[in-house]
Amino acid sequence: MPDTFKRKIKVAIDGPAGAGKSTVAREIARRLGCSYLDTGAMYRAVTLKLIRERVALADLERIEAILMQTGLDLENGQRVFLDGEDVTLEIRQPAVSKLVSPVAAIPAVRSRMVALQREIASRSTSIVMDGRDIASRVMPDADYSFYLDATPEERARRRQKELMGQGLELSIDEVTAGIEERDRIDSARADSPLVITPGALVIDTTEFTFKEVVALLLDVIRAESGCAPDAATSI
Ligand code: CDP
Repeated sequence: MPDTFKRKIKVAIDGPAGAGKSTVAREIARRLGCSYLDTGAMYRAVTLKLIRERVALADLERIEAILMQTGLDLENGQRVFLDGEDVTLEIRQPAVSKLVSPVAAIPAVRSRMVALQREIASRSTSIVMDGRDIASRVMPDADYSFYLDATPEERARRRQKELMGQGLELSIDEVTAGIEERDRIDSARADSPLVITPGALVIDTTEFTFKEVVALLLDVIRAESGCAPDAATSI
């Protein structure tokens, strides 16, 4: 039975690639009965569109025009639709992963995505969002802010396992190189880079299981919101 909060709550979960943010955020939202928004999926969908339209990333005018004509719909953490087409699986393909960080570094792309994300947050009763700039830019007024991290080796291992589950066989070296490159671009970009915001609770999840991380976040949220833990909290 999900919790019910007397007031609207906003939960921000940030961190580098492969730290487990999306799986944890989706589960937290389910358990709290909140909406969930995977902001990375939005950047991935835009990247897929630019790949399909064969747009050069230097062609900012064309990118802005395409952004205005692009329809994005996210079905509460389940499926992603690009102009009405279900692209949930396609946005996880290596070609998209390879290009998503350069695309996400383009200020016009970011301002459009941030506007959409804020609009979704304002329409939701309560929301859990995960990404890179949620606490720093999208929801600086979040009630709870978490930064999930893990060692690069563990993050690569988790991502390789996840990709394997989707039928994508990549060597650990390929996965590690991809994650390192994205972390480098995401942390170095001028427009809202990946940072640990003051006040965020930093959790190194290297030694924790998925269930332990979920329980930890739920305990913090419930303790501070005065919501009594239910039987489902225990792991
Ligand atoms: O692979 P992982 O699940 O860690 O990444 P993702 O959440 O799917 O995000 C893909 C990429 O989108 C990131 O590497 C960032 O370049 C970009 N992103 C961003 O810039 N800001 C966000 N709020 C979310 C994602």
